[in-house]
Amino acid sequence: MNMSLKKYRQTEQVKLSLGKPFFESQGIAIYQGDSLELGSQLPHSLFDALITDPPYCSGAAGTSVGADPAKKYCHSGNTLGRPSFGGDFRDQRSFKYWCSLWIGQALRACRDTAYSLVFTDWRQLATMIDALQAGGFCFKGLISWDKGRGSRAPHKGFFRHQCEYIPWGTKGAVPRLMDRGPFDGCYQIPVLQKDKHHMTGKPTPLMQKLVQCVPAGGISLDPFCGSGTTLVASALEGRQAIGFEASEEYCEIAARRIEAAQRGELLKFERTTAA
Ligand SMILES: C[S@@+](CC[C@H](N)C(=O)[O-])C[C@H]1O[C@@H](n2cnc3c(N)ncnc32)[C@H](O)[C@@H]1O
Repeated sequence: MNMSLKKYRQTEQVKLSLGKPFFESQGIAIYQGDSLELGSQLPHSLFDALITDPPYCSGAAGTSVGADPAKKYCHSGNTLGRPSFGGDFRDQRSFKYWCSLWIGQALRACRDTAYSLVFTDWRQLATMIDALQAGGFCFKGLISWDKGRGSRAPHKGFFRHQCEYIPWGTKGAVPRLMDRGPFDGCYQIPVLQKDKHHMTGKPTPLMQKLVQCVPAGGISLDPFCGSGTTLVASALEGRQAIGFEASEEYCEIAARRIEAAQRGELLKFERTTAA
């Protein structure tokens, strides 16, 4: 085995099960397809963490759920050229069931004591905590991400929907780490347009903090990688990562961002429609 194959042993193992990825470079790989279909082929007990941001499927049935994400997430009606995406249509019961399926697959693919970090919002928080446990992870706590005052309040009477949440858990016991942690349980990090390549893109600095739970050189799984922020953060932080993404457009965007990160650059989002 040559040096780079040895270094990226886990990504090579995934390739043996899933075949040729859409993109691969220095321990970071993207597979285009349905997360459940790809997840069913993953090797067992390989990953150090599940870190992901699935479609939230948030909102009352008949209103937000089922709406085009381009309308739901871009209140001005202008996407600025960010592609729309699928999978945001489930009602709460089917969302919980669906999440428990892919979380269960991720659990099998994770080694003992691996972390699971899954993004959600205030509406789906309880549902996601249920799904995390139904999938087999032990629920251990809640990380809050404060987006700041730029976040939406429907009108003046509202408290702002300023935070998103990351219920976290582990496969069995929480590991006793000697080399890193304890990790912060709350992050105040704004969304910058130049760093937002997806309609629901997460800030790269936030994901750089979260991937710290993966050991240096270790590997995480993001079954809904979108514009690839978890993978970009992993590249910047010296971790391996595997992403799944249904949309070819987002696979392309993620690949370009990862290549830039591996050159030590952060690719800037450039709007393609008028503001
Ligand atoms: C919330 S976004 C992730 C955004 C990502 N965190 C980022 O910073 O760019 C969820 C992504 O999941 C993808 N998706 C939805 N359903 C999927 C499925 N069944 N399999 C794979 N990807 C899916 C969507 O195309 C979307 O890009």
